Amino acid sequence: MKTNPVGRLLTFQNDPFGFFDEHKPLDTTKPVRLNLGFRRFFFSYDPQHAQHILQDRKQKYDKSSLVLKKIKALSGPQGLIQLQGEDALRVRQTAGKLMNTSGMDRLVQKVDSYVRDIFPLIDQSIERREPFDLVPHLTRIVLRTAGVFILNHDLVSESDHLNAAFVDLNRKAGESLRSIAECPFSPSKRRSLHTIHSELDRIAEEVLKIEEPSLLKAMRSSGEEKSFIRDQLKAFMFAGYDTTASSLIFATYLVAAHEAAQKKIAEEAMRATNLNYEDLKKSAFVQSTYKEALRLYPSAYFLPRETNQDDVLGGVRIPKGSQVFLSVRHIQRHPDYFENPNEFIADRFIHKLQHPYSFIPFGGGARICIGAALAKLEATLVLQKLCERYKMRPLNSAPPEIEALITAHTKAPLPIFFQHRKMEETV
Ligand code: HEM
Repeated sequence: MKTNPVGRLLTFQNDPFGFFDEHKPLDTTKPVRLNLGFRRFFFSYDPQHAQHILQDRKQKYDKSSLVLKKIKALSGPQGLIQLQGEDALRVRQTAGKLMNTSGMDRLVQKVDSYVRDIFPLIDQSIERREPFDLVPHLTRIVLRTAGVFILNHDLVSESDHLNAAFVDLNRKAGESLRSIAECPFSPSKRRSLHTIHSELDRIAEEVLKIEEPSLLKAMRSSGEEKSFIRDQLKAFMFAGYDTTASSLIFATYLVAAHEAAQKKIAEEAMRATNLNYEDLKKSAFVQSTYKEALRLYPSAYFLPRETNQDDVLGGVRIPKGSQVFLSVRHIQRHPDYFENPNEFIADRFIHKLQHPYSFIPFGGGARICIGAALAKLEATLVLQKLCERYKMRPLNSAPPEIEALITAHTKAPLPIFFQHRKMEETV
């Protein structure tokens, strides 16, 4: 164990997951105080702290300026993630209005058609008796859905290079967050940013000619400046794309590895009478399965905060200006709040949580994720559609490897053996 501040910073830089694991205390009711480099940090592993920071004493905790600075290029300097007060509220309200029932029903139809686009490819893999790597296809579904919600534009033709640009920037921001010195603005980072800017600008011009609702159109109608709007587009893409894609990849892996869960998801899907948002929300089993995947593998694996005044957390004094990082991974596997915390139990979330802040994949309080409903819609519908038509078995029994960037990103392919599901197998 590295005990000096520079050594600790290096450990955090090289392996943030390992760092959080290494410093987890036996008694989580007190946060762990550590100096990293020249800064004072508190690491927290407890749902009660999450409630304190995100809800009960939220006025004392801002988002971490250290992290905000590192992700500025990715999330846009004026993007929602970076905004405070009235500006943040205004953007949240505009985006929230788009998630009404008719908006969500439209997205259900889109996601359904995007999943159907993969069926012929899966069918070919069945004929050839070969495993099929779902990762690029799940990623494309998420990018296309984000394109419709944010821009009202199907990003199918742009998906490959936009995906590469976002992943590259996420990686650069992850590396920069973990480094002692400021990362210079590298040529490849510039290239990725340029790709994202020019694509978003080009698409924005085209989209404004179309009548259907989108975040872009809603922002334009409320008279926002062009640069402000572009930053919102970037913020929503950054926050909503890689997170949703990774969670969907993990959820698909877990479901593929659990045959009984697949069968139950298929049965539930067949009982639903309509393909719409209301019926999807009522599909309790698939909703629970997705939450269980988010519990075990949260894409946003830590929540970074900074105190704007002195506070006391779990009996420990937290001076103003401290960095306070909540370890979402540990909170969501806390043995006092979850039975068999490391096991995948698909129907776990059918039952009530023991603590409301023991499950915080989307954060909590005033700045809770604005896209949570959209992520759930996408993931649960994709799982339903896959399970209704196929039985799945992953080629590898180990879960996909994780690369801890700003968010937890899956780095390996996900080869799955598919078989057609016979109707009589679901009753
Ligand atoms: C599984 C998928 C997702 C996960 C795990 C996730 C996670 C999170 C978390 C933890 C936060 C709060 C961060 C903090 O408090 O420091 C957040 C905020 C945010 N999310 Fe998500 N998110 C997901 C999907 C989405 C989607 C689909 C969108 C957009 C359509 C989106 C847009 C945003 C935005 C704009 C914010 C900033 C909100 C604010 O600061 O007011 N997210 N997300």
